[in-house]
Amino acid sequence: MADASPAHEVDSEFYQPASRFFPAHSRTALTYDDVTLATLYTEILPKESQIDTRLAEGLHLNIPLVSADMDTVTEARMAIAMALNGGLGLIHYNMPEKEQLSEVSRVKNHVHGLIQDPIRVHPEQHIGDVLELIEKKRFSFSTFPVVDAAGTLLGLLPGHVVKPRYAHRKVSEALTPRAQVRTISERELGADPIARADRFFTENLGIHKLLVVDDQDRLKGLFTLSDIERITQETGAALKPARDSQFRLLCGAALSTIRRKDGSIDRERVIGHVGALIDRGVDCVAVSTAHGHSRGVGEVVKLVRDAYAHLPIIAGNVTSAAGVEFLAANGANVIKVGQGPGSICTTRVVAGVGIPQLTALYVTSRAAAACGVTLLADGGITKSGDIVKALTLAQGVICGGMFAGCPEAPGQIVEINGKLYKQYRGMGSHAAMKAGSAARYGHSADSTRKAAAEGIEALKEVAASLDSVVGQLIGGIQSGMGYLGAANLASLRERARYIQVSPAGQKEAAPHDVIEVKTSSSTGDKA
Ligand code: XMP
Repeated sequence: MADASPAHEVDSEFYQPASRFFPAHSRTALTYDDVTLATLYTEILPKESQIDTRLAEGLHLNIPLVSADMDTVTEARMAIAMALNGGLGLIHYNMPEKEQLSEVSRVKNHVHGLIQDPIRVHPEQHIGDVLELIEKKRFSFSTFPVVDAAGTLLGLLPGHVVKPRYAHRKVSEALTPRAQVRTISERELGADPIARADRFFTENLGIHKLLVVDDQDRLKGLFTLSDIERITQETGAALKPARDSQFRLLCGAALSTIRRKDGSIDRERVIGHVGALIDRGVDCVAVSTAHGHSRGVGEVVKLVRDAYAHLPIIAGNVTSAAGVEFLAANGANVIKVGQGPGSICTTRVVAGVGIPQLTALYVTSRAAAACGVTLLADGGITKSGDIVKALTLAQGVICGGMFAGCPEAPGQIVEINGKLYKQYRGMGSHAAMKAGSAARYGHSADSTRKAAAEGIEALKEVAASLDSVVGQLIGGIQSGMGYLGAANLASLRERARYIQVSPAGQKEAAPHDVIEVKTSSSTGDKA
């Protein structure tokens, strides 16, 4: 379609495409706040813009957001929430390999709306025991499936008999027997379990619980009408979950460059672990290190590529065109770009190394286009506007700090002076390296005490749910796309026009000369 409003020559002189803007600024490294994007004629309403992104063959996301493979950001709960929102979570590797496999399984087996491990009671228990359990665990429900020692379903204990007056009665006396309990076989759930459960509740007036059983009649899950109603109501507005061809949620896992005592890569262990991850259904692996343009990282990427020809491999981190070429030549499909931009990173301070993120993205994007790989802009995102700028050069972004305060991130909430915080630490901090990530920074686990840390241990103010944070970020991305008349991310990359901002211009960009009474969550600060 011809542009209804062609570029004006005066605009073209000032607002330049990446191919002119960045080479013209080749002596200065620029990051997100150093530039701004010019508006362009638009026929696009923000909410109409398409934000799905293809990172690699078989790795297609509905939103261009990935949660960082950090031990205070992504475990199964975060990865599930990310995939439900259309993105991807990378499970970190600061845990035993077996545990990482279980985390991946949790994501791949997650059926939204299905309580997979419902609280169950046994026939010989007394109602009083059940009341005690409810009190102790603060359950907000009082109906429980009843099973025998083998997990076989015996019936359902209905909430209306779970009362102190029946405390001395046995569960076996009070249960609704198996024959009267409505169940569905797990095989019958099909590709869309929510739709199946929704249909069941519509067809079965007054039934509020549907139990899922296997072929041996063992309890495998529970749907509740209220969960299904909430999910189906949300579906219209919510983003489409990112799923694989078997309708399972997408999940990625980070890989470390596992080494033997003599420093060589432990090839068997790497291959064995990746094989086990694939058996669990992992959709991609991320070879995550501070310096991706290095022999060890190249070796691991090649090892995995040679063993598993079709597995999408994310690798990094680099900030140079040569680094992109190197990782692509070894078999990586997606390259992580970022050295030192992260909110908890001290690489630039400690090592004096690293490139401000926008320049790094431009340089690497040139090589990525030539090599046929995609880029993930990793670190330094503090507001949705940064993401829009990153997406003018990369196919997706990785966020750590933006998500670390969400309830879905691992870690306890702590209260300090009446405010609630969650721990957020760099994978190159002493504590994280001790917990396993030393290899990422080129150290061995026993040498970490002496090694210079390249990350800090910090706190993030507790944030809203991931759904709400992602919702704000997506709103911002779509708003940016609307201003640029970009119907999709490819068009955003093509249409972006940049200009450098002066320090006074940066000041002008944020709220100023007012007394702020309410922080806008769309900035991401308090999302
Ligand atoms: P944000 O800004 O989203 O950054 O919090 C997350 C990204 O930072 C990287 N990372 C580190 N970089 N030292 C570093 O120099 C560290 O200790 C460290 N830990 C994480 C990583 O790329 C992550 O995705």
